[in-house]
Amino acid sequence: MKTKYILALLPFVWACNNSTKEMKEEVEPKKAIDAHSYADPSQSKVTHLDWDAELNFESNTIRATATLSLANSSEATQLILDTKALTIEKVTLADGQETTFKLGKEDANLGRSLTIDIAPDTESVSILYTTSPTAEAVQWLNPTQTADKKAPFLFTQSQAILARSWVPIQDSPGIRFTYSAKVKVPSNLLALMSAENPTEKSADGVYTFKMEQPIPAYLLALSVGDLEFRSIGDRAGVYAEPSVIEAAAFEFEDLEDMIVAAEGLYGPYQWDRYDLIVLPPSFPFGGMENPRLTFATPTILAGDKSLTSLVAHELAHSWSGNLVTNATWDDFWLNEGFTVYFEQRIMEEVYGRDYSEMLASLSNQDLKEEIAEMTAKGEAVDTHLKLDLTGRNPDDGMTSIAYDKGYLFLRGQEELVGREKFDAFLKEYFTSNAFKVMTTEEFVLQLEDLYRKNELSMDREKIEAWIYGPGLPADAPQPSSNKFSLVGDQMDAFMSGTPASELTNDNWSSHEWLHFVRAIPEDLSLQKMTELDQAFGFTKSGNSEVLTAWLEQSIKHQYEPAYDRLEEFLISTGRRKFLMPLYRAMILTDEGKQMAKAIYVKARPNYHFVAYDSIDELLKE
Ligand code: BES
Ligand code: ZN
Repeated sequence: MKTKYILALLPFVWACNNSTKEMKEEVEPKKAIDAHSYADPSQSKVTHLDWDAELNFESNTIRATATLSLANSSEATQLILDTKALTIEKVTLADGQETTFKLGKEDANLGRSLTIDIAPDTESVSILYTTSPTAEAVQWLNPTQTADKKAPFLFTQSQAILARSWVPIQDSPGIRFTYSAKVKVPSNLLALMSAENPTEKSADGVYTFKMEQPIPAYLLALSVGDLEFRSIGDRAGVYAEPSVIEAAAFEFEDLEDMIVAAEGLYGPYQWDRYDLIVLPPSFPFGGMENPRLTFATPTILAGDKSLTSLVAHELAHSWSGNLVTNATWDDFWLNEGFTVYFEQRIMEEVYGRDYSEMLASLSNQDLKEEIAEMTAKGEAVDTHLKLDLTGRNPDDGMTSIAYDKGYLFLRGQEELVGREKFDAFLKEYFTSNAFKVMTTEEFVLQLEDLYRKNELSMDREKIEAWIYGPGLPADAPQPSSNKFSLVGDQMDAFMSGTPASELTNDNWSSHEWLHFVRAIPEDLSLQKMTELDQAFGFTKSGNSEVLTAWLEQSIKHQYEPAYDRLEEFLISTGRRKFLMPLYRAMILTDEGKQMAKAIYVKARPNYHFVAYDSIDELLKE
C-alpha cells in the first residue's frame, strides 16, 4: 500500500482505537474564519437538526425544540451556537438530563452565542426555546397583508445571518447539516419548508419535513399560509394563494426548459424537485434560493413572462451557492457572481443572445451607477469582489458588485479561455466541489489549474485587480444590445420633436420599455412627461420594473399625477430593490423628504425587517 493511502486511513484507525463509545471523528479543521458566527466547528459541529415546532399566530411566536446531532473532537467540552432574541427554556442531553448553558453578550449584528456544556461523546442536545415576536427572519402577516385577505401568513428569510433568530444553530455558510421537522400550524393553513414538501393541507395542521442533503443554515426556510399547489412539470410546481395560483402557473410555464438548459450546461440538478412559492408582496427580495422551494415576490408576475430571469437566477443557485457555497460572507460574490453568470447562460439558451444581452446591459447600467456612487461616498473598498465585512452587517455586501462585477469577471474569463473550455471547467467545478464550501482564494487556484491545463498563461495581476481592486478594470467586457440602440434612437427622436404617439415601439419587450424610461433626460419638461404618460400609460404599468423606473423619474421630475400610484405602490410592496431607489429619490428635496416620511409611517408596518432596517437607516436624519 502506498504511504498516501495509509495516511488517509489513519483517522479511521485512530477513531477505532479510541472508540469505547462510537465517537464520530469527522470534524474538519476550520477552513476559513467566519466573522459572522460564534460557532467553533473544530470542537463540535452540528450534523443534523430535528426541529419540532408549534406556531402561534396570536402571539407571533414559535415554540420549538431543536435537537442537534453532533460531531465532536476528542477534546470537546462545548457546543457553541448562534442565537438572536431567542428565549431558551432548557437544554437537555439524549438521556433527558438537563445540561448547563450560557448566553453570551448581545451583539447588534451577531446576536448572542449559546454555549452548551457537552462531553466528547455527547451525540445530541435538545434546546427548548421560544422566538421573539420581532424575530428578524420571520414576518407574521395579517390577512389584510396577503393577496386573498382571508388568512394569516408567515414566511422566513434566513440569508445572510437571520436563521439564528428562529433556530439556535451554527449559522455559518461553511457548516452544513441535514434536517427533519415537525411543524404544527392552524389547521386551515399549509406549511412548507426548504425540504420535501406536502402538496395538500393536512386535517390537523401538522406537517413533517425531511431534507436529506446537507445545507447551510442560511437555506433554512419556512412558509405558512392559505396555499395551493399546481404542478407545472414532472419535477416542478408552484405554490401560491388561491387567487394567484393561475397567474403563477402561467408565468412560470418555461420552468422545465430552464431546468433542462441548466442541466445541459453544468450537470444534473441535485435536489430532486424544484418548486416555487409566490409570497405576499412584502417579501423583501425578488427571490430566495431556498433548496427545493424558491421563495419569490409576486412582483415578477407581469403577465407576459418578462421578469422570469429571476427564476433562472434562483434555479442557478441550485448549483452556485447551494451546492458550492461561499465559505464566508466576504466571498459572497462566489454565490452571486457565478449565479448571475449562470442565469445569463440559461436565458441565452432559452430565449437567445439578443434577449440575454438586454438583461446584461440593464444590469451593467446599474453596476456602473452603483460603482460611481460608492466611490463618491468613499466606499471604494466595498467595490472589491472579495470583501471584508468583519464587524459589519453582511447585508452591506449585498450590492451589485457581487452580482454584476462578479458576472463580468467570469464573462471575461470565458472570453479569454473560450466558451467550451470554460463550460467544461465550470461543470467540473460544480461536480467536484458539490456540497462543499469555496473561498475566493481556492477558486483562484482552481482557475489557475484551468489555465495551466490548457497551456494558457494567466495574467495574475489582472485577476487580482478584479478580485482585490476597486471598480471595473479596463478590460471589463461590455454587454451591448442592438435592440437598446434602437430604443435610444426613439428617445432621441422624441427629444427632437417627434410626438410620443408617433414613436416606433411595436413589439417592444418590457426590457426595452425599461431602457426607454431610464433614458428620460433629467431636464425633461412636465409637459413632455405628461405626453409620455398619456401615450404609454406608465403610471398604470403592471410591470413592476417599468413602474419603479417611471415612479423614480416622476419623483425626480416632480410629476405629481404619479404620486397616488407611488404611495399605493410603496404601501403594498415590500421588495427592497424597488423601495430603496424610490425613497432615495424622494429624500433629495425637503418636500420629498416630508412625503417620504408621511408615506413611510403607513408603509413600514407592511415591511419585513430586512426592508425596514434599510429604510430606517436611509430616513434617519
Ligand atoms: N440569495 C439572494 C438574495 C439574498 C442575498 C438575500 C443576500 C439575503 C442576502 C437571491 O438569490 C437574489 O440574488 N435575489 C435577487 C434576484 C435577482 C438578482 C435576479 C433579488 O432578490 O433581487
Ligand atoms: Zn442570488
